[in-house]
Amino acid sequence: MKKYSLLLIGCLLIFSCTKESNTVAYEAIPLEVELPDNFPDMVYNLDNNPVTEAGFELGKDLFYEGKLSVNDAIPCAFCHEQAFAFTHHGHNLSHGVNGGVGFRNAQPIQNLAYQTSFMWNGAASHLDLQPILPITAEVEMGETLSNVISKLSADSQYQEKFARAFEDGEVSTENMLKALSQFMVMMVSSNSKYDKYVRQEDNVTLTTIELDGLNTFQEKCATCHATDLFTDHTFRNNGLPVNPLLNDTGRYEVLEDPNDLYKFKVPSLRNVEVSGPYMHDGRFATLEVVLDFYDAGAVDNGNVDPLLLREDASYGITLSDYEKESLIAFLKTLTDNEYLNDERFSEY
Ligand code: HEC
Ligand code: HEC
Repeated sequence: MKKYSLLLIGCLLIFSCTKESNTVAYEAIPLEVELPDNFPDMVYNLDNNPVTEAGFELGKDLFYEGKLSVNDAIPCAFCHEQAFAFTHHGHNLSHGVNGGVGFRNAQPIQNLAYQTSFMWNGAASHLDLQPILPITAEVEMGETLSNVISKLSADSQYQEKFARAFEDGEVSTENMLKALSQFMVMMVSSNSKYDKYVRQEDNVTLTTIELDGLNTFQEKCATCHATDLFTDHTFRNNGLPVNPLLNDTGRYEVLEDPNDLYKFKVPSLRNVEVSGPYMHDGRFATLEVVLDFYDAGAVDNGNVDPLLLREDASYGITLSDYEKESLIAFLKTLTDNEYLNDERFSEY
């Protein structure tokens, strides 16, 4: 396994803190972000925000911290639960502070260092800026950044944690966002049965039905769900009927380009067995229903991806019963139990 050494190994820098209020020193003990052999190149630039033990721990505290929300009760982890690949289990649309219901399904948090944009419509183009959206969204955490910073600044434990994690030691928005990113870039899911099979580790083999599913997947799905991240990072319209109650225009919202109508980010399918319900609005409860949709439920909503156009001029991907069954067997090989149970990412 390739490892990315963030700072010179053994280089332990301790700066004495110049701020009078802090007695704790900055500790730059580097942590390595995993670079699995079967992954494409990392997108996140670690040079601008090297991960340190103290930064990662602070990021984790913040991820599980209710104070980031207006009623102090809705941490990031409320909607991003580890056992379900950090999705909001049991909710098609996430709900946040004061019972407000959002209009999209919570996405998994995994392999974000390898992604080029965030949210279903790509509204966040940099991971360091993404948390501003949930923190300030009325139906999610409903808080202002300045309130969050004053709550954290008033807490002596956070003062110490920020002092340990950042050279300037400040409890600031910038440092809060950097710490959250340090936590999230460490969240690499790369040890599913499928990964071990492609990397030829531990003599892992796939069964006949799983291999048949893999072949069907490569033939019919992998153009969009590409590479071992299972996404080509593009926004596409896969022919879902538009939900009239939400009329979610997807990527169109960001650039207002009519070509983007109803396009959504191609989701990674890692841990898809546990990350349901599916699609941007969580409309499908099971993988069986997803495959029935591709086979017979896609509609011409005006802007469907040409890849889905069939010879009879309808949209969709024709799948036999056996292809569906084997695709599901294959998709289940993408479940990474080591990740779902990794204590580094769990609440203490
Ligand atoms: C109220 C529920 C809720 C809370 C709280 C919440 N999220 Fe989310 N998260 C969502 C939903 C829903 C989406 C998809 C939103 C969209 O596409 O519009 C999402 C998307 C994301 C994504 C994008 C993932 C991707 O693959 O593009 C990241 C990263 C993320 N959240 C991190 C966080 C962090 C960090 C926090 C805390 C600061 C947080 N979330 C708080 C519900 C929530
Ligand atoms: C034309 C590109 C394209 C092709 C081909 C394609 N998909 Fe998708 N897939 C998407 C997009 C885009 C979404 C998200 C759509 C949305 O939510 O609006 C998606 C969503 C999904 C989801 C839901 C994931 C989640 O986290 O909610 C699953 C499962 C899935 N696809 C499986 C497959 C399988 C299996 C195949 C092959 C039979 C396939 N897809 C073929 C583009 C594609």
